[in-house]
Amino acid sequence: MVTAGRSNAATALAVALALLGSTAWAAVAPYQPRPAAGGPPSVPAGPLDIVMLGAKGDGKTDATQAVMKAWKNACGATGTQKIVIPPGNFLVGALELSGPCTSSIIIRLDGNLLGTGDLTAYKKNWIEVMRVDNFAINGHGIIDGQGPLVWEKNQCSKHYDCKILPNSLVLDYVNNATIRGITLKNAKFFHLNLFNCKSVLVENVEITAPGNSPNTDGIHMGDSEDVTIKATNIGVGDDCISIGPGTKHVKIHGSRCGPGHGISVGSLGRYKDEKDVEDIQVTNCTIKGATNGLRIKSYEDSKSALRATRFVYDDVRMDNVSYPIVIDQKYCPNNICAKAPGASKVVVADIVFKNIVGTSATPEAVTLNCVNNVPCQGLQLVNVNLKYTGTNNKTMAVCKNAVGKSVNVVKELACL
Ligand SMILES: *[C@@H]1O[C@H](CO)[C@@H](O)[C@H](O)[C@H]1NC(C)=O
Ligand SMILES: *[C@@H]1O[C@H](CO)[C@@H](O)[C@H](O)[C@H]1NC(C)=O
Ligand SMILES: *[C@@H]1O[C@H](CO)[C@@H](O)[C@H](O)[C@H]1NC(C)=O
Ligand SMILES: *[C@@H]1O[C@H](CO)[C@@H](O)[C@H](O)[C@H]1NC(C)=O
Repeated sequence: MVTAGRSNAATALAVALALLGSTAWAAVAPYQPRPAAGGPPSVPAGPLDIVMLGAKGDGKTDATQAVMKAWKNACGATGTQKIVIPPGNFLVGALELSGPCTSSIIIRLDGNLLGTGDLTAYKKNWIEVMRVDNFAINGHGIIDGQGPLVWEKNQCSKHYDCKILPNSLVLDYVNNATIRGITLKNAKFFHLNLFNCKSVLVENVEITAPGNSPNTDGIHMGDSEDVTIKATNIGVGDDCISIGPGTKHVKIHGSRCGPGHGISVGSLGRYKDEKDVEDIQVTNCTIKGATNGLRIKSYEDSKSALRATRFVYDDVRMDNVSYPIVIDQKYCPNNICAKAPGASKVVVADIVFKNIVGTSATPEAVTLNCVNNVPCQGLQLVNVNLKYTGTNNKTMAVCKNAVGKSVNVVKELACL
């Protein structure tokens, strides 16, 4: 989505800087491995099972302190440390899992983590991993935000500067991370948020929330590099995946989206000093029952000049998607834009839509709504065949200021 991504990121940065300023993590006593004969072991067997540290998996006893203790033990040790969350339902408030750490940390999630409906338990996000290298979370457990307890408090559709509810799992300044096997469910706001991360793999993850839940984006990323999402199934109330400014080298493949608002790049240009989005690949994916399929959106009155270039969408099946292919350089939700026609500074170029087939729930299967001062350049529609599922109308392309070529495209959609 939309409005919240960047302010979120900006606040995360502010929080990071505040932490730096107060040297919060220096105050944490490092874990001291027990001395062993022949010197300290390089991988101390720290107490890293949260039940051993006092957590009760009864779904109602607050387990926050046990998880924080496990994190401190793991972070202060060396080698690879595995934190174990065994089967059970563990109620936890805000978890600030901060580095830098002297170890690599794996969280093995076999049980479920439950958020609380008490918003005073959170400063900003729910589970926030910050400034950590070599991190993994895997298992078959569920990270359940318990969003239904608080969604009615989300005012973002009514107020531009709304209070943002806690995101579920947030990685800030994390390099080399893997998230595998787990389920993220009913986040209060975004399910997974990546900010300033590098080399992240999301694999075999399930993300689920009702199609009408507010701002429950599946995966949002900004200012990040080398992100791979594979074999992941996302059905939520907002964008399945949204790729914000400053993001490069993203590969999404073998994944599914729907319900939701599709796989989006943007919104671009909302804030000053945003950086380019480059080299995005979406291949072998299915989008089903979503409001949009593949979308690139930038603000009509963009505040920064940036480029969205070198995207390849190849082999994407659409099943009853309202707007399967969308480039919108005139994005302006709730009419918040300054009246400045032709003011866009966001360049959209070298975008290939190839082997995109299936059905559209509205006649408008292809929308290329570009502005005349920076027309979209180097677009390609190759082997695109989308059929309107309704009656009394036929599939069509609505294209403005879009330059490129159509190859082997049904004639109603061949607008380039
Ligand atoms: C990435 O992190 C994993 C641990 O999660 C570690 O085994 C691996 O060596 C790391 N890779 C690099 C390049 O540091
Ligand atoms: C394409 O994605 C599906 C999952 O939707 C997966 O089963 C299949 O192996 C993928 N094919 C290739 C060639 O990666
Ligand atoms: C297609 O999507 C539309 C709009 O979301 C919905 O009303 C309709 O029931 C869907 N049709 C099928 C066959 O799923
Ligand atoms: C067909 O769909 C287009 C685009 O949604 C709409 O503008 C037009 O009025 C529709 N035509 C009919 C006959 O309903």
